[in-house]
Amino acid sequence: MSAQEVLLAARPYLDELEERLRLAASREPGLVSRVALDALDAGGKRLRPLLVHLTSDDRERALRGGVAVELVHTATLVHDDLIDGAELRRGRPSVWHAHGAEAARAAGDHLFARAFGELAEGGDLDGVAILAEACLGLARGEALQRRQLRDVETTEDDYVERVSLKTGKLFEVACLLGSRDPRLGSFGLALGIAFQIADDILDCMGETIETGKIAGTDLREGTPTLPLILAAREDDVVRAALAGGPLDEAIVRVAATGALERSREVALEYARRARAFLTADEPELESLTHIVVERRA
Ligand code: IPE
Ligand code: IPE
Ligand code: MG
Ligand code: MG
Repeated sequence: MSAQEVLLAARPYLDELEERLRLAASREPGLVSRVALDALDAGGKRLRPLLVHLTSDDRERALRGGVAVELVHTATLVHDDLIDGAELRRGRPSVWHAHGAEAARAAGDHLFARAFGELAEGGDLDGVAILAEACLGLARGEALQRRQLRDVETTEDDYVERVSLKTGKLFEVACLLGSRDPRLGSFGLALGIAFQIADDILDCMGETIETGKIAGTDLREGTPTLPLILAAREDDVVRAALAGGPLDEAIVRVAATGALERSREVALEYARRARAFLTADEPELESLTHIVVERRA
């Protein structure tokens, strides 16, 4: 099944999701709520809600779960950009860049709270617990990232531990909110790791016009992503840049080491692992395992 076919079939769900997201985020008056709505309005691939939809057979549950997971995701992006000093998000100035750090913190918190409100209103207490656990994982992932910052000795295992928490968890939760099936949760976790590796490759070579973000942020901030870990092993200039030294030429040298291709192999391996959890009658989910690695946005 092609990406277009998956998206076309999910169109009615995704359209309704947009409406419900706007409703959820515009219930309170005030600046913080407006800023939060702005972050949602900037768009995004809505991949996590799509996972809720594709793993669910209950439309209402898929909508509530999709709204909750996208609100949490957007909240993490608002906070993440503040932490990463990233000035562009979804093709627009990031929230902290446009409105300041205080507004970004508050808007992120607002989005988190609304996410839980969404599930609570639907009476989905298990869902609340599942999402709460994931949020703790996200926070732990960000804390790990802080600890690994500019540490050129960060290993591939350290990296996988970090991205499992900061990205894999929310993919896992999307599938669990949809299905409550641990098999699909495991699928989501592996898919999320593949997705984050692809993101880290795009940070080294992506086009802003496609990603809506500025490339090179990870190296500038000293975040040891898989491509940077692999490249730093072979190139002293990259190694020094990752540790906080001069950036000139370093990004070009990352590509020259072949680290991007090797990272892609690892992403493909996680996509394969994700596929191994699927049954033969889940072509939409199978298609996602290809899309997350091939994507340019
Ligand atoms: C960005 O996620 C953060 C990562 C986990 C890499 P997405 O690439 O899904 O962001 P949007 O929602 O499409 O903007
Ligand atoms: C993912 O990491 C962020 C979260 C899971 C919140 P990145 O820092 O790589 O995400 P981008 O590249 O800013 O979207
Ligand atoms: Mg970031
Ligand atoms: Mg990134």
